[in-house]
Amino acid sequence: MNTTDTLPALYQELADWWPVLSSPEDYAEEARFYRHALLSACTPTPRTLLELGSGGGNNASHLKKHFEMTLVDLSPGMLRVSRELNPECDHVQGDMRTVRLGRQFDAVFIQDAIVYMLSTADLARAIETAWVHCRPGGAALFAPDHTRETFKASTTHGGHDRGTRSLRYLEWTWDPDVTDTTYISDMVYVLREGAHHVRCVLDRHTCGLFGHNDWLQMMARVGFEARSLPFAHTEIEPGSAHVFLGHKPDRS
Ligand SMILES: C[S@@+](CC[C@H](N)C(=O)[O-])C[C@H]1O[C@@H](n2cnc3c(N)ncnc32)[C@H](O)[C@@H]1O
Repeated sequence: MNTTDTLPALYQELADWWPVLSSPEDYAEEARFYRHALLSACTPTPRTLLELGSGGGNNASHLKKHFEMTLVDLSPGMLRVSRELNPECDHVQGDMRTVRLGRQFDAVFIQDAIVYMLSTADLARAIETAWVHCRPGGAALFAPDHTRETFKASTTHGGHDRGTRSLRYLEWTWDPDVTDTTYISDMVYVLREGAHHVRCVLDRHTCGLFGHNDWLQMMARVGFEARSLPFAHTEIEPGSAHVFLGHKPDRS
């Protein structure tokens, strides 16, 4: 696989705008939640952490204070951004469905990048990758933005100013077909460089959407002892999102 052709423009020609769209500080609270979730499912305490689909490395910028991290992403442009932010982490280009690093980690983490798995077959491949790279007694954590049961259409906006560059975005999330395993996140970016150069880009992200039990069953199928946890975050309505935590039994 390893092809970047199907990635949204944000992870290709616009990758160097990522730090203007999303900033590491925005991730501090959730990174703390993910760390505690992983600690609760790993024995002994985890030291090494593999993140698949690590993007610009915003979560990693917090997690690296507690773990030795290896970061895998499909996009060379996003890896460049992350290397700048996280020079002390190992970076590897790879597809979460197929990458094999030939070693195991105490814990494996896939956050929002998991939404780019659009079919149950692809999601199963990403879960298998996590399983293969997780040591017995370790844990894997998957944090999709939505599950089928809690999905709600929404519109949000954001962006930052960094030096001579500014970006504002509108994200319109909706589901044209409630019977399939995908939804749409249409993003509009307004990109400003200096005072006069302004352009607008429409970037469609097609994202995967799976049921709560589908998640648990797919994780159990490879061997994880799987459970869900409500995602606790001050900006998220309680009960509106879940993460999926798998413990790899000691004798696997
Ligand atoms: C929203 S970004 C992740 C941001 C990240 N959570 C952070 O903390 O900065 C989503 C990432 O998923 C990556 N991605 C999409 N499909 C992938 C795949 N099949 N394998 C690995 N990475 C993938 C994209 O290249 C992109 O960098």
